Amino acid sequence: MGKTSAPTRGRVIANVGRLVERNKEKLAKLITSEMGKVYREALGEVQEVVDTCDFFLGEGRRLYGQTVPSEMQNKNLFTFRMPVGNVFIITAGNFPTAVPSWYIVPALLAGNTVVWKPSEFTPAVANALTDLFHAGGVPKDVLITVVADGEQTFSALETGLKESIINKVGFTGSTAVGKKIGAKTGEYIQSACLELGGKNPMVVMPDANIDLALDGALFAGFGTAGQRCTSLGTLWIHESIYDSVLAKFTALVENAAVGDPFRDVLFGPMISEKYLENHLAHLKMIQPHHKVSGSTATGKITAKNPRKGFVGDPEKGVFAHPVIVAGVTKDDELYRTETFGPLVTVGKFSTLDEAIELANGHGYGLSSAIYTNDPQNVWRFREGISAGMVSINNSTSGAEAHLPFGGNGLSGNGSRQSGIWVLDQFTRWQSMNWDWSNKLQKAQMDLIEIKHDPNFDLK
Ligand code: UN1
Repeated sequence: MGKTSAPTRGRVIANVGRLVERNKEKLAKLITSEMGKVYREALGEVQEVVDTCDFFLGEGRRLYGQTVPSEMQNKNLFTFRMPVGNVFIITAGNFPTAVPSWYIVPALLAGNTVVWKPSEFTPAVANALTDLFHAGGVPKDVLITVVADGEQTFSALETGLKESIINKVGFTGSTAVGKKIGAKTGEYIQSACLELGGKNPMVVMPDANIDLALDGALFAGFGTAGQRCTSLGTLWIHESIYDSVLAKFTALVENAAVGDPFRDVLFGPMISEKYLENHLAHLKMIQPHHKVSGSTATGKITAKNPRKGFVGDPEKGVFAHPVIVAGVTKDDELYRTETFGPLVTVGKFSTLDEAIELANGHGYGLSSAIYTNDPQNVWRFREGISAGMVSINNSTSGAEAHLPFGGNGLSGNGSRQSGIWVLDQFTRWQSMNWDWSNKLQKAQMDLIEIKHDPNFDLK
């Protein structure tokens, strides 16, 4: 699509959006079957692809540059957005369509070619999404999807950078892998678009609507089995309400339905055995001073290690018990570890300043939330929190597709996806000056003298 105009590419994106919408249920079913996200959430995920297409189809007619005044007479200045070239997109299994679309749609719209390496855990979804792009009018050699493992991907990255056929990298995944990709691209004077982990805090003030806060904590903590980069990390509860709020939260989690993702459950299986293994490793970080609750047991749900009220057959997937680890402090390993599974840590604080310090102290800075009805708390939290995204009386998950998405510190290098902001990832500014005076006018030197009186005072 590099040789087409941006409005034409916008029409292609419009086609893709319509086709994704037409195939919404099929795609959502495939997502649920392949990676275990509950069907209602999967429908929401596919809707996020449609939303992204809706946003960018119009951008094809807007990809604005500027007309800028010159210092000189008879000279004009302009800016143009230029595609970067070929982009290499590497995405994770937890959002096998929405997150890829955040990269692929604007990258194509801006006139780039794309090589996409989806998660090895969701190849069928990746193929289906690729087919929809191609059916919408994206030429097959403009979007190429390649399934590969981590090692193959990294060596392809290295070769592509060396041979200058990768001009931009977009990566969503762990902070550990993001660091490697950042270092590798840095060697080739490139800065990757990195969307990494989070340990997203939720602060509950004493004046908050507690039921609302706990609805948010339940969804953010355990939706997608806790495998969102925006999942709740630690629930920070004010000391004056700590015991009662923790008790309510425990009851909610203990009574939540877990099981078959096609039925009405809070969460289904984990993406794969590998994700369960990581979860089991996190359970080993639990210390004697912690209080564990949330289920009838911890670890893998099986016939021998059952969960009360389990929906369906636990052998039909990799299911894990939800876990609440209460009494976490800033010295604990669990305080600074992204757990990416159905595990929520809970701690207490006495002042808002302390809560902000705890919320920032681990170095992640993706999403965050505060529940309060006091505007002073809202503004102090917003100013003090280092996260790229802040929710007020809303969960840490559920970012909308047209606001900047991304984090700081261990969560990312400042790049932002979604909305108009992502265009800065997939375009470079070109500036042009056009002197039509027919003489050499020298910038900064050929200044027009301004007659003025620098010592003028009013009488
Ligand atoms: C992710 O987990 O990488 O805000 C993305 C949310 C979703 C996107 C999550 N809209 O939770």
